[in-house]
Amino acid sequence: MRRPWVAGNWKMNGLHQTNDELLKGISSLAAESEIDICVAPPAPYWMQVVEALEGRGIKVLAQTVSEHASGAYTGEWSVGMLQDCGVSGALVGHSERRQLFAETDVVVAAKFAALKQAGLQPVLCVGETLEERQAGETLAVVSRQLLAVLESQGADAFDGAVLAYEPVWAIGTGLTATPEQAQAVHASLRAVVAAFDAVRAEQLRIVYGGSVKAANVAGLFAMADIDGALVGGASLIAQEFLAICQAARQRL
Ligand code: PGA
Repeated sequence: MRRPWVAGNWKMNGLHQTNDELLKGISSLAAESEIDICVAPPAPYWMQVVEALEGRGIKVLAQTVSEHASGAYTGEWSVGMLQDCGVSGALVGHSERRQLFAETDVVVAAKFAALKQAGLQPVLCVGETLEERQAGETLAVVSRQLLAVLESQGADAFDGAVLAYEPVWAIGTGLTATPEQAQAVHASLRAVVAAFDAVRAEQLRIVYGGSVKAANVAGLFAMADIDGALVGGASLIAQEFLAICQAARQRL
């Protein structure tokens, strides 16, 4: 049984005060041996969130990270800075980074490698646009995004990593993939990894993201290859995030 994994991606939302309120709202959450819970606040608030969650075992993630170690990269932050601030890992290849900040598969793979080298957790996000889905290219697109890491770093690079399937058309739109649509892609992604290493493929957590909320999460978590959720908008509402974590527990 793979440990369920749930993360809240706060994106570019929140200020000290609203973060405090949200953290108080989820203060009943504690880490457990059975499920992993993470939050990914904006970088200026890492320390606030790390301190507030201290001793609770809930991990803090960055929403992206530089592939470079240090130097003249204005506006960026490194894996060393994550470690220094108590941040456990980072999302890489989120579709907003790919689309709005022109991150290519090669750059995303380099960020993944930088996290692995530092012993931090990469959360690799893959997903197709609506046009790609309608053109029947879903599996080709998500496989290409995954293979950019697998072919350059091997299946062992996925030890401890998480793969997130996030159809671009479902992110922030209120349109969730049906459990069956998501399951079909998750199973295909697992098969891509299995072609490299069947054991690692079986162990890899593949989580779904895209308009996940308390009301639709149970159907998704009922699927054999959906091991958790990467939650955007609903993670900003304490009751929603609590309910999604609760549903992950019930998956066990
Ligand atoms: P959403 O975002 O839950 O608001 O659709 C998910 C994500 O982008 O990770």
